[in-house]
Amino acid sequence: MKIEAAFVTSAATARDFPQDDLPGVAFVGRSNVGKSSLINALLRQRIARTSAAPGKTRLANIYRVRRGDRTALYLADLPGYGYARGGDVGFEDLAQVVFGRFAAVLLLVDSRHPGLASDRAAWAWLGEAVATRAIVATKIDKLSRAERQRATHAFDAVFEPPVLPVSAVTGEGLDQLWTLIDKLANNSKPRPRRNHNPPREATPRRRKNSNASISPRSRT
Ligand code: GTP
Ligand code: MG
Repeated sequence: MKIEAAFVTSAATARDFPQDDLPGVAFVGRSNVGKSSLINALLRQRIARTSAAPGKTRLANIYRVRRGDRTALYLADLPGYGYARGGDVGFEDLAQVVFGRFAAVLLLVDSRHPGLASDRAAWAWLGEAVATRAIVATKIDKLSRAERQRATHAFDAVFEPPVLPVSAVTGEGLDQLWTLIDKLANNSKPRPRRNHNPPREATPRRRKNSNASISPRSRT
């Protein structure tokens, strides 16, 4: 299927968003989990900036996509948890702005680290903040068959919906991911606004004492 994609804007405030009413899906996950790489793999071009050094994406980068003769939609690439903080816009503030326009979210988690506290907190928080959400396990190419089986069990134990394994490197899972994105986009109308502020303790944060393998600074 033919895919046309274009970078639209880097958004920091509600005013920056496209003013049409096309649906959109936001990509959320820890820094370095592979959000930008997955967007590139889906769009089959290097349109989103990726890096081995975490924290590259500090605004919400919005891409407009048309696949074949389907209705166009937006994909929003958010900063990793914790890395937009301290600058002009905090991650939570930015996320709330994005969810005000695109209330469908894909939470990306690293298939090598199932059930991290920060990912579980993010999943719970998204349950309050958005209309619809789904989980994707990235970098599945890095797992052996046995590791993959262990990870699948671990994910099943932690998250209620099935976690879709994907790889930006091998392309595994990308067709299923497009199907999932279409489904999310169809339910992406923002909820009527109430108090969207996440409770402090439920907010995903970079943990000071995280071990090296899950530290956002580790090169994964
Ligand atoms: P931030 O923008 O910092 O939040 O990171 P991000 O989530 O956008 O991660 P990014 O796409 O920049 O990828 C981080 C690193 O993981 C890069 O070195 C990628 O090459 C690598 N990576 C991403 N996806 C995959 C994958 O599916 N397989 C493998 N093996 N490596 C991947
Ligand atoms: Mg990125």
